[in-house]
Amino acid sequence: MSRNAASVLILICGIVFQLSHGVEVNVTDSQDKLCLYANLMVNFTVLYEAAGNENKTAKIQLPSDVTKDGSKCDTTSSTLKLNFGEGHSFSMNFTTNEKMYQADSITFSYNLSDSSHFPQSLSNETVSVTVKPQITNVGLDTCYSCKSEDMIQADLVNMTLWNVLMQAFVSNGSKSEKITSCKADIPTTPVPPTTHSTSTTTAAPVTNTTSTAPPPTTTPTPTLPPPTTGKYSINPGNGTACLLATFGLRIGFKQGEKYQEMNLEPNGTKVSGNCGVNSSELQLTANTMTILFTFTNDTTKFHLQALNLTAKTSSGAEFSQMNTNLSLWEATIGSSYMCNKEQNYTITNLLTLYTFNLQVQPFGVKKDGFSTAEECFLDSDLSFLVPIAVGVALSFLIILVLISYLIGRRKSRTGYQSV
Ligand SMILES: *[C@@H]1O[C@H](CO)[C@@H](O)[C@H](O)[C@H]1NC(C)=O
Ligand SMILES: *[C@@H]1O[C@H](CO)[C@@H](O)[C@H](O)[C@H]1NC(C)=O
Ligand SMILES: *[C@@H]1O[C@H](CO)[C@@H](O)[C@H](O)[C@H]1NC(C)=O
Ligand SMILES: *[C@@H]1O[C@H](CO)[C@@H](O)[C@H](O)[C@H]1NC(C)=O
Ligand SMILES: *[C@@H]1O[C@H](CO)[C@@H](O)[C@H](O)[C@H]1NC(C)=O
Ligand SMILES: *[C@@H]1O[C@H](CO)[C@@H](O)[C@H](O)[C@H]1NC(C)=O
Ligand SMILES: *[C@@H]1O[C@H](CO)[C@@H](O)[C@H](O)[C@H]1NC(C)=O
Ligand SMILES: *[C@@H]1O[C@H](CO)[C@@H](O)[C@H](O)[C@H]1NC(C)=O
Ligand SMILES: *[C@@H]1O[C@H](CO)[C@@H](O)[C@H](O)[C@H]1NC(C)=O
Ligand SMILES: *[C@@H]1O[C@H](CO)[C@@H](O)[C@H](O)[C@H]1NC(C)=O
Ligand SMILES: *[C@@H]1O[C@H](CO)[C@@H](O)[C@H](O)[C@H]1NC(C)=O
Ligand SMILES: *[C@@H]1O[C@H](CO)[C@@H](O)[C@H](O)[C@H]1NC(C)=O
Repeated sequence: MSRNAASVLILICGIVFQLSHGVEVNVTDSQDKLCLYANLMVNFTVLYEAAGNENKTAKIQLPSDVTKDGSKCDTTSSTLKLNFGEGHSFSMNFTTNEKMYQADSITFSYNLSDSSHFPQSLSNETVSVTVKPQITNVGLDTCYSCKSEDMIQADLVNMTLWNVLMQAFVSNGSKSEKITSCKADIPTTPVPPTTHSTSTTTAAPVTNTTSTAPPPTTTPTPTLPPPTTGKYSINPGNGTACLLATFGLRIGFKQGEKYQEMNLEPNGTKVSGNCGVNSSELQLTANTMTILFTFTNDTTKFHLQALNLTAKTSSGAEFSQMNTNLSLWEATIGSSYMCNKEQNYTITNLLTLYTFNLQVQPFGVKKDGFSTAEECFLDSDLSFLVPIAVGVALSFLIILVLISYLIGRRKSRTGYQSV
């Protein structure tokens, strides 16, 4: 098959596949219709015994020059067999039920007599290793795609597969435009960054997520409406508030592989807490979450020191995260901290806090109202300064022109007078 036809086929599969020089094979059935398609790259490392009682490692890359003798398609099982070099072969067996197909086994046979790959091999035999790949639950009539590297280990052989795109049990003689991506290819959510999350990312590319597009680069999270701004205060009992807080709040958190977002609904949220000399607390208890803010007074300034959050997820599971070493929302004692722009704060690597129309004053509240606000950097955006700066510069210019005009006029007047 010509190179052009090959690229057309890739496009048919609905993929802007990275320009890979993968080995591409089309297996056809008795009626000459496409029944199995594969485009993949494989590296093998083989440990073998060489002369002098030495163990050597052979590194072999699946060449583009392969034959497909031995490949065949059946209704419930198919075989892809790629023969190369001096009697080496790589083959995969696929089976299907009505909805899914999977790769049951991969067999790699290598001919130790081939001195170009196995110099000084003691043995001259052809050895076969069979491994079970983790390519399961691929939806029928979808292409399996895995750009990530997947290393499969056996005793003496390691195989690394990457840039894999294949479809077994092709119906109607043409490849599907739908993709089933391996787990390793599915991007993790952008926030919060996971450094040591509890979910171990396994190299095993197993998934049955079927999408009509190639693996997306960004996960579309359903966008929530902006949270309602709530007004909260702590009254120690004599009718005067000692802590004031106004904000709209959203949390974003990661549980396992899943990223979720939730808004705090102020209506129905219970407020509790206390004000101290050195530390004040505000606890908000809503149906979906309980959140405790601890503010610290360090003589001249205050800041948000700790945040303890417990949320009930949509699946009913509890999610709890805490950070007692924060230094957010810092302002002078006797004033309030304000940030009207939407802000996000990484509380832990699994929890992000989003605030909207934020203003807090945890110490020194007078007459039930916020004191002067110290605004966050974002609010004092440079975009506000630009017109001001331009205005100042312009007025300065005008004054300059005016002064030079006046001086000029006076000079010329004195000039006339002297003449
Ligand atoms: C595969 O092998 C080739 C040649 O040995 C090497 O250049 C390449 O980096 C290897 N790729 C992977 C993913 O192992
Ligand atoms: C193995 O390699 C040797 C030497 O290259 C060759 O003569 C022999 O035919 C090969 N065996 C097979 C089964 O192809
Ligand atoms: C393989 O090696 C054995 C001895 O180790 C030898 O008897 C046999 O002829 C060799 N076979 C081939 C095909 O070279
Ligand atoms: C296979 O990979 C493992 C882990 O990287 C390594 O320890 C082992 O030596 C490799 N085996 C071969 C035959 O390359
Ligand atoms: C995906 O695979 C799991 C088992 O791994 C199965 O329980 C589930 O039903 C499959 N999902 C779909 C949509 O087929
Ligand atoms: C209310 O109580 C707080 C502390 O309990 C105190 O600081 C404040 O002055 C009191 N306000 C009034 C109006 O009594
Ligand atoms: C708050 O919720 C109650 C019932 O849960 C509802 O009757 C009321 O209208 C809500 N108030 C606002 C301002 O949404
Ligand atoms: C903040 O702490 C300092 C020193 O502990 C104390 O003097 C001051 O009264 C505190 N301010 C408030 C508003 O509690
Ligand atoms: C507040 O902190 C100061 C110094 O850090 C300490 O002397 C004082 O006793 C603390 N006050 C309270 C009420 O804990
Ligand atoms: C955090 O909050 C949860 C529920 O509100 C509570 O059970 C837990 O004890 C708190 N943790 C700390 C260290 O305060
Ligand atoms: C708290 O944060 C500071 C820097 O923000 C860091 O130096 C310190 O080690 C942290 N302490 C703990 C207990 O995590
Ligand atoms: C978090 O805020 C920064 C700027 O402070 C912004 O660049 C970033 O896009 C925000 N992230 C999210 C997920 O909103």
